[in-house]
Amino acid sequence: MIAKLKGKDFLSLKDFTPEEIKALLDLALKLKAEYKQGVRHEILKGKTLAMIFTKSSTRTRVSFEAGMFQLGGLAHFLSKQDLQLGRGETIADTARVLSRYVDGILIRTYEQAEVEELALYADVPVINGLTDLYHPTQALADMLTILEHKGKLEGIKLAFIGDGNNVANSLMIAGAKLGLEVRVASPPGYEPLEEIVEMSKAFAKEYGGKIVLGNDPVEASKGADVLYTDVWASMGQEKEVEERKKHFAGFQINNEILALADKKAIVMHCLPAHRGEEITDEVMDGPQSAVFDEAENRLHAHKAILAALL
Ligand code: CP
Ligand code: NVA
Repeated sequence: MIAKLKGKDFLSLKDFTPEEIKALLDLALKLKAEYKQGVRHEILKGKTLAMIFTKSSTRTRVSFEAGMFQLGGLAHFLSKQDLQLGRGETIADTARVLSRYVDGILIRTYEQAEVEELALYADVPVINGLTDLYHPTQALADMLTILEHKGKLEGIKLAFIGDGNNVANSLMIAGAKLGLEVRVASPPGYEPLEEIVEMSKAFAKEYGGKIVLGNDPVEASKGADVLYTDVWASMGQEKEVEERKKHFAGFQINNEILALADKKAIVMHCLPAHRGEEITDEVMDGPQSAVFDEAENRLHAHKAILAALL
């Protein structure tokens, strides 16, 4: 199964079967356990990853960089202003050139179309490190975290409280494919895109998951196994911050919301968090918080992606 992924792009989890996603999760679990036992692999010896960032990053950048190194390879961090891309060289030419040097390209940017264009012209696998539409490497790490904390994925009720954004989109797709019930509660006007909802519902029907949309965080949280949130304003939405604060006021994971979830529920956040807005300090630092395990799992999930694709 894993061997089939060699050379494949990682642009969205919609392009992967449930079996392929599960194989990546199994590989991540194996690499994580081995790393903790002190086993050091050289699976990517002599291989390099170019990492293009046109938006900020702490977790994605450092975990991919560390992951490449831990597997015996090397990563190049390339911010847009340092690349000729920032001075008008096309994405297609950048893809053609980088493909002559490296074994994989990671890109974090705004438009999903840019990532797809890069993948079209690159001869090496392209990994989507976040766009306005998707955040697939996050969703893979999140499924790993849920699997570890809950012992299973099928039937898990995940309530996403907040903006119907890139993270919500990728969680709906991953959840639908892996048999979770994904509930998304957003303020009116901030629901996930209709086409992503419809696609996720179709995957859910095919693979046994469930997608439930709504505008009520209280309703969504009742009996949930996982409470998940993300910032009210994503990168690129800086001008909307004040307006969004008004609309998202009730969409916070706090002790009252947590009390509605299952007693053993875990709380997740892709981070960075705006403490006091979408999540309170008590919850984020409380006993049910899995946010730092989740952040750690970016490393292990990304190593599985790299080992499989490159
Ligand atoms: N969750 C996440 O992608 O974090 P960074 O923006 O720090 O990479
Ligand atoms: N939705 C957030 C996620 C950051 C990891 C953003 O796009 O800024």
